[in-house]
Amino acid sequence: MKELLRKLTEAFGPSGAEREIRDIISSEVAKFCDDFRVDSLGNLICVKRPSKPTSKTKKVMISAHMDEIGFAAMHIDDKGFIRFSNVGGHRPHTLVGQKVVFENGTIGYFGLEKLDSPNDLNFSKMYIDIGAKNKEEALKKVKVGDICGYVSYFYDNGDRVISKSLDDRACCAILIEAMKKVKNPKNELYCVFSTQEELGLRGARVAAYGIDPEIGLSLDVTGAGDTPNGPPMNMELGKGAAIKAKDSGAVAHPGIKDLLISLAEKKEIPYQMEVLDGGSTDAAAIQLTRMGVPSGTISVPTRNLHTPSEMIDMSDYEAAIELTVEFMNADFSKI
Ligand code: CO
Ligand code: ZN
Repeated sequence: MKELLRKLTEAFGPSGAEREIRDIISSEVAKFCDDFRVDSLGNLICVKRPSKPTSKTKKVMISAHMDEIGFAAMHIDDKGFIRFSNVGGHRPHTLVGQKVVFENGTIGYFGLEKLDSPNDLNFSKMYIDIGAKNKEEALKKVKVGDICGYVSYFYDNGDRVISKSLDDRACCAILIEAMKKVKNPKNELYCVFSTQEELGLRGARVAAYGIDPEIGLSLDVTGAGDTPNGPPMNMELGKGAAIKAKDSGAVAHPGIKDLLISLAEKKEIPYQMEVLDGGSTDAAAIQLTRMGVPSGTISVPTRNLHTPSEMIDMSDYEAAIELTVEFMNADFSKI
């Protein structure tokens, strides 16, 4: 089970450059869905149909984003140093000392100009150094517009694992595992591995319009409040799958939220309630599609989000798989 997580988290795939991660996921899911397609924004849409649809069968879209945060080369100076634009949300202090990799395998690190005070730290004082001797040599490896992501490996500490891009590859793995478990679904499932979530839910927005689902669910990571002097949040590692009530982009549809709670209670799946003050998920885009789609979110509490060292607890991961499986087969007729 952790091998899939390792494979997905170590793969390259910042927003807008999801080709490698999409190919890996495609080969994982090909056997477990009836058909799949890639749309114009690069979303991978996998369909699983019931063999005998009933009057209760609904069209359900479940989305996990496959993109990760990264950077784009913005300007290369005469000495070969690369200024960058951020792809997704970063804080400057998390970049110091980190390495990045471009799609062609070129590695660089974040260098820092001389600062008068640590408070002066911001992206404009930083650059990517790939060790080029001049602009010409740099251009042989990196062009303006090329996208890079963090370099990190998957570290297995037993119950808890550490890696880059657990946001949201952990949930890509959860969706794949759930698809494997649901052999003959009661609903018509559109499992979407979406693109460009970190740039504002762009992939899920067009995927939802194209699919036109009756029910929506996103699977994503969320914060955790259980670290020293951490933010006041209900979510803790190891307390179960988080059922979202609200984040800054969406209030969960009450019917979906209550259904998730009752499924977790009936099947004794550990869960915790979630309100996330800052941040959002694909559910916010799905919910506002066309005439509106009742939508909710299952989350995995994660420490140190949007850094190369994110951490989750495997019991929350497993609870999220179980809850996703129940949701795939749920009766939505009372929503
Ligand atoms: Co994110
Ligand atoms: Zn995410």
